[in-house]
This record gives sequence, C-alpha cells and structure tokens, in this order.
Amino acid sequence: MTAATKQGLSRRIVIARGAALAAAASVPSGWAIAQAKPLKVGLMLPYSGTFAKLGENITVAIEVLIAEKGGKLGGRELQIIKLDDESKPEIAPQNADRLVKRDQVDVLIGTVHSGVQMGIHKVVSESGTLTIVPNAGNVAVTRALCAKNVFRSSFTNWQPAYGMGVAAIQKGYKKAVWVTWDYAAGAESGAGFKEAFEMGGGQMLPDLSLPFPQTNFQPLLAQIPGLGVDVVGAFFAGGGAVQFVKEYAAAGLKVPLCGSGFLTEGTLEAQGAAAEGIETALHYGDGLDNAKNIAFREAFKDKAGRDADVYAVQGYDAGQLLAVGLEAVNGNVDDEANLYKALRAARIDSPRGPISMSPAQNVTQNIYLRKAEGGQNKVIGIAAENLADPGTGCKLV
Ligand code: PHB
Repeated sequence: MTAATKQGLSRRIVIARGAALAAAASVPSGWAIAQAKPLKVGLMLPYSGTFAKLGENITVAIEVLIAEKGGKLGGRELQIIKLDDESKPEIAPQNADRLVKRDQVDVLIGTVHSGVQMGIHKVVSESGTLTIVPNAGNVAVTRALCAKNVFRSSFTNWQPAYGMGVAAIQKGYKKAVWVTWDYAAGAESGAGFKEAFEMGGGQMLPDLSLPFPQTNFQPLLAQIPGLGVDVVGAFFAGGGAVQFVKEYAAAGLKVPLCGSGFLTEGTLEAQGAAAEGIETALHYGDGLDNAKNIAFREAFKDKAGRDADVYAVQGYDAGQLLAVGLEAVNGNVDDEANLYKALRAARIDSPRGPISMSPAQNVTQNIYLRKAEGGQNKVIGIAAENLADPGTGCKLV
C-alpha cells in the first residue's frame, strides 16, 4: 500500500468510522486477486509423429499428479494449455513464443525432442518463464546454457549412455560402434557411451547415423558385420526404436545390441520377440520395488489404460517438482527467490527412487541396468549409482 493510499484510507476511516473500515478490510489485495486466478501451465509436447506416445504419457502422468493433489498446486487452480510441437525444431521458437507471449503461461513444461528444446530454451532464457523439461536430454540446457528458471525432471543424454558404457566394459566388450539419429540426443548419448567405454580401455568406431526421424536403417545395418565390433550401442526412441530393434533382429546379426534404455522403453509390446534379451541402461526400469512406484503405476494404468514407462515417470515428477516450488511460495510464482530456492533444494520421492537437483538443475539419479525379458525391462543391477551430469560450463554451479 502506498503512502498516499494509506493517507486516503485513514481520512475515510475518520469520516465514516467503523463501517468504512470493515468495507476496506474486505477488499482483496492485488496479490489475493492474482492468487484466485488459475495458474497457467503450458504443455509444449509432441502429440503427433514418432514421439507422440511419449508426449501423451508425460501429459497423462502430469494429470495423475494434479488429481492426487486435489486439482490444486500451492493452493492454485491450474489452467492447462496444450500445444503439439510435432518434434519439429524449425517451428519450436514460434511455438514457445505463442505460449509465453500470447497465452502468457506462468509455467512451461516441455519437451521431448532435444532440438525443439533449444527453441524453447532461447525463448524462456529471455522471458524468464519457469520451465520444467520432462524429457529432452540435450546437455546444453543444464551445462553451458543453463538458466536459473530452467529445471529438468528427466536426464541429460549423457547420463543413461554413460551408464551403459560402464556396464558394457564390465561385460568384457572391447570394440563398439554407436548407431543413432544424427541430432543432439543421438550424438550426445554416443559421446556418453564413448567416454565410459574408452575410460575402461574399450575402442569406439565413428558413429553410424541417419537424419531424424528417418527409418531407412538397412544401409547402416549392412555395415555392421564388416566392422569387427563385439557390441553395438544405439539411441533410438518411440516409433523409430520399434522399427530399429525389429530390423536388427530380422537382419540376423550376431553382434549383441545394447543402448540408452529408450531403445526398449514403452516399445516392448510392439517389438515383441525382437527385443528379447537386449540390455539397456536408464533411470527407470520395470519392477522397481518401492511404494511410490507401485502406487504410481496403478494410478497411471487406471487413467491411461496402459502401463507407465520412463516418460510417464518424468511427467509425474515434473508435476511433483512444480508442486514443491508452488507449495513453498503458496502459489505466488512472482516470489522468484523463494520459488527457485525451493526447486533447487527439492528432494523428490520419485517412482524411479529418491532424486534431487544437481547444482545445474538436472536430476541426480541412479542409472539402472535392465534386460528385456517377457515384455518387461527388468532391472538387473545399477550401472551408475546417484549419477549427476557434470554440468560443465554452467554458471549456476
Ligand atoms: C531427445 O531428443 O532428447 C530425446 C528424445 C526421445 C528420448 C530421449 C531423448 O526418448
């Protein structure tokens, strides 16, 4: 309240006595008016194309979390605005701009594809909009380009692949090649695998790659027998991963296939026998025996009619993280200092196990070794315990 308003108020009080005072007390303050408005949450995710199912699982899981919280986070009703980003980097800045400038979202949750994330990042680094990344793993977002308003509930591309590289060395493999889509997620996961594999004395050949989201795998598969490798590592996800694993099996290659866990995540039913026995590393797996996971899987299945996967977990945890922040400031997102303080300090009981935020605002978490068996990615060990991305170049560190 300004000095002038205070003065005006006291003059009226003198004139109209108690009746006016009572009336003034019931006038809602600016903050109370803002508080009564729903909090606008933009979901910028793929709802079409090869990653459509990933975006849908993230969305359903966020809705599960909101329902568990009685429809409100930090006392605020939520207005959800969905935008299909089509996994197209070229239209990402304009899509993010629509949410931030036209719809004026308070929070942006997005996205899946690393290239699209770069477009979002450009927009939200300038606008300062609170952003939670529920999948895309591009390292820049929580390394050199990290921003105080951007948090992840997922992973960096480096994390699962690094875990797989460690496991591959432990299994005694000596020479490997990485097969992938030629974009940030493919290259960065290949780099994570290579780092661990070479540190353990292994030798990596140059990546075999094709443009995203192409699925013309035959020319790549045809090269593998001539390479003399004893293991093939891969990053593919969604519909592309289904097709790659099937074609790899159909090619009758003798070299075992492994990868970042997305290769067999949410895809096993469609991959069928072709996926049997494939070992991958990821921050989630089937059969994790903790109470949160059991309850979450049941709630997700009730709502979606299908089993949860890592994408669902990351969506649920985006909601959990947002809830921690909003509860700390009673829904007042303008209280940035306390909002970000709470988000940075968040310790979350995730279906994947306990997680926390690294100084660069990426998730510190276990990377599990899994084996595809009978339609499940069964956890068979921990490839890297409590693994944090190095966060290299992040000024928040
Ligand atoms: C990515 O583009 O960062 C990405 C996409 C799908 C995944 C994982 C990472 O499953």
